[in-house]
Order: sequence, then C-alpha cells, then structure tokens
Amino acid sequence: MLNINVDFKYTEKKKKEIMKYKDMVEKIHNELHEISTNENEFAGWLQLPTSYNKDEFKKIKKAAEKIKKDSDVLLVIGIGGSYLGARAVIEALNNTFYNVLTDKQRKTPQIFFVGNNMSPDYLNDLLECISKKDVSVNVISKSGTTTEPAIAFRIFREYLESKYGIDEARRRIYVTTDKEKGALKSLANEEEYETFIVPDNIGGRYSVLTAVGLLPIAVSGIDIEKLMNGARNGQEKYNNSDLKYNNCYKYAVARNILYKQDKKTEILVSYEPKMLYFTEWWKQLYGESEGKDGKGIFPASATFTTDLHSLGQYIQEGRRELFETVINIEKTKTDIKMKADEDNLDGLNYLEGKTMNYINHKAMEGTIQAHTEGNVPNILINIDKLDEENLGELIYFFELACAISAKILGVNPFNQPGVEAYKKNMFKLLEKPGY
Ligand code: PA5
Repeated sequence: MLNINVDFKYTEKKKKEIMKYKDMVEKIHNELHEISTNENEFAGWLQLPTSYNKDEFKKIKKAAEKIKKDSDVLLVIGIGGSYLGARAVIEALNNTFYNVLTDKQRKTPQIFFVGNNMSPDYLNDLLECISKKDVSVNVISKSGTTTEPAIAFRIFREYLESKYGIDEARRRIYVTTDKEKGALKSLANEEEYETFIVPDNIGGRYSVLTAVGLLPIAVSGIDIEKLMNGARNGQEKYNNSDLKYNNCYKYAVARNILYKQDKKTEILVSYEPKMLYFTEWWKQLYGESEGKDGKGIFPASATFTTDLHSLGQYIQEGRRELFETVINIEKTKTDIKMKADEDNLDGLNYLEGKTMNYINHKAMEGTIQAHTEGNVPNILINIDKLDEENLGELIYFFELACAISAKILGVNPFNQPGVEAYKKNMFKLLEKPGY
C-alpha cells in the first residue's frame, strides 16, 4: 500500500492562500492534458505509466536478462536526463555499497556511469577498474549528438571491439536514442546494435520511466513492473484538476508562493544517503525546467544529518532566502537497536533501546523545528518506505509538480535553450567545423 502525503504545516502557507490558485491550476491542468497525446509536444510522460509501449518494455526486460547473464559490468553512458534518473533509482533501491559487494552477494552486474563529464582520469580509472571483467555498454542520448557521451562511447566501443572482436562487441552494445535522428542512431543502424527508443514527446529529464532509465534499472535487479505500477498510482492520484484534492498541485503552488515571498532557493532534503542521486535528478528536473527568462527557484539539495555539519549553519542563520522540502521516509529496510554499555564512557546510554531510524527521525524533527523557527519554511513529503512503488509514484509526483510549477511561474518547462551557450563557445575553442 502506498503512502505518500505532503504536509504544509511548517510553511505557514494556509489553505486559503494556496486555494487562490485554483482556477489558474485547473487551466494549466487542462492545457497539459490536451497536449499530452500530441506527438509534437513534450508532455508524453503525463500518460506514460498507462500508455507505455508494452513490446518495448518486454524487449528491455529481455536485454536486461542477457546483460545479467553475460556481464560483470554494465557501463551506462549518458549525461543529464540520460543518466540521472537511472542512477537515482538504482542507488535509492539497492544496497548503498552495491558496486563493492561481491558478485555472489550482488547477483547482478556492477553498474558504472560514464560520459557525464570530460575527465580523462575518470575514464582511465574506470578502465582500470573493469580490466578483468566482462562488460556491456548502454549508451543513451536522445539527440544522439551530445559531446560527453559521444566521446565516452567512442572510447568504450573501441575498448569492447579490441577485447571481444567486432561481432561480440556488437552483441554487448545497447543504444537508447531517437527513433530516426542523430549521429548515434546512424551509428546504431550501421553497426546493427540493439536499439531502444526515446519517445519523441518525452524530453530527457522526464524520461526515466522510458528505456532511458528502465534498462539500467532492470539490470540492477529492480522490478521495473512495480516501478511503473507506482507511477501509475501517481497518475491516478495526482491528475485531479481540483487543487483542493491534489497534493502534487499544492506543492507546485506552495513553492511559487514562497518564491514570490523572496524564498528563491529550495533545498530538497533527505535523511537517507541512498537518496543522494534522487536529489541530483530532482535538481536537474527543476533547474532545467524553471531556470529561464531571468526567473526560477534555484534547486539545491542536502543529505542530513551529514550536511547539518556543513550547510547547517548557513541554513539556520545565513541569508533568509531559503525553503526546504524534506523527504521523510518512515520505515527503513533494516534497523539497529542501541545497546547499553557497562562503562558508558561515550555517554550514550540514554539511547539504550532506541533504534537508529528512531534517532534519525528525532534529528529530523529537531531540525525542522529549528529551521522553521529560523524562518526557513519546510514542506514535508512523507513516504511510508523506500521501494519500487513509492519511488515510481514519487518520480511521477515531482515530474508533474515541476511542469505545473513552471507554468505557474510563466516559463516553458520543456525546453533548455540556455544549455547551448557553453557548447557554442566550447566548439569554437575546439575548432569544430561550422563554429
Ligand atoms: O533534459 C534534457 O533534455 C537534457 O538534460 C538532456 O537529457 C541532456 O542534455 C542529454 O541530452 P541527450 O540525451 O540528447 O544526450
């Protein structure tokens, strides 16, 4: 049974203030639904949990099974929306130290993400790490032209070809890209690589529940059927056009109200280190969707209690332009009970009988109280436990809230024109033809 609910009591955003947006939100809701089946728009993710291509889904599962059988390592090559979602889910739902477990403990391939930076050390370190292992590659790029993953793919394609020969290398390369456009698609056609499609009407940062995210996620042993079920629950729950009954839309409105009151930075907080890449995924989703036309909440993230010992001071007493959205996970998979110590030299006997999860929650309660008293409003998102279904629902919740929030702000949630500026300069400096 799913249990995600949103708590606004620490924001002082009274119902009445939120409900002023009722008509606006209903209009945006209708507009979004109207374009969601249009192939030329970018709102395909809205119906995806029910409308996804079942044949492609079967193909993903089959490829994942093959990779699990014949590979010790899967390299996921991609950047931005073409890797963050997969990494977010894989890290949230697997053992925190997944890649360093023994093969016997893990039972599924190690997964490394590459092509998301330009560091030669990163690549060489990775090559050293995988030298004695059987490797498959999933290269992901919707446009098929992004420089970082293209460079990494050139290097790892050559690596596979020299390790296995051209034919076996071909059987170990999986391409996720546009159905017809882009250099990667041409290469895949030429080399006859197995190919998965990024639907036209789903942009990179909204694509985790397509082959972009699902293939690597399935390879790590996560049940992608359950993940989609969770997203489908989100689709059912959060598509009520009436703001009064829609917590997802209330979150979108609350953050806009806070923004108008000069709370220009939102920190997504989790008390679970497994959620680190989920917050990275969220930052990209919100940053690229809202940061344009001189507007937008700056999306930041923190893992507590770790970052209470680095960012905590600033949050408590620095510039008062912050608000926090806290993801509270009620139950952990495992727990540890504190025992009494005869000598009590560390003075911790007051914790005897209390569990770590309980202590973590008390830290959270204490922090929320301190931060709200320090004029940092908190929105609380409560999740029963971290599993496929809840995470699927949470992904859908944040995607939908993001689109609604950007529309309230008056910006296009589905483009990212600003990303081109650095590329143009870089290409010119690298003397790329045509620049
Ligand atoms: O959300 C987006 O569209 C971007 O962040 C892209 O995912 C990112 O730039 C990678 O693009 P591509 O998949 O075309 O390589």
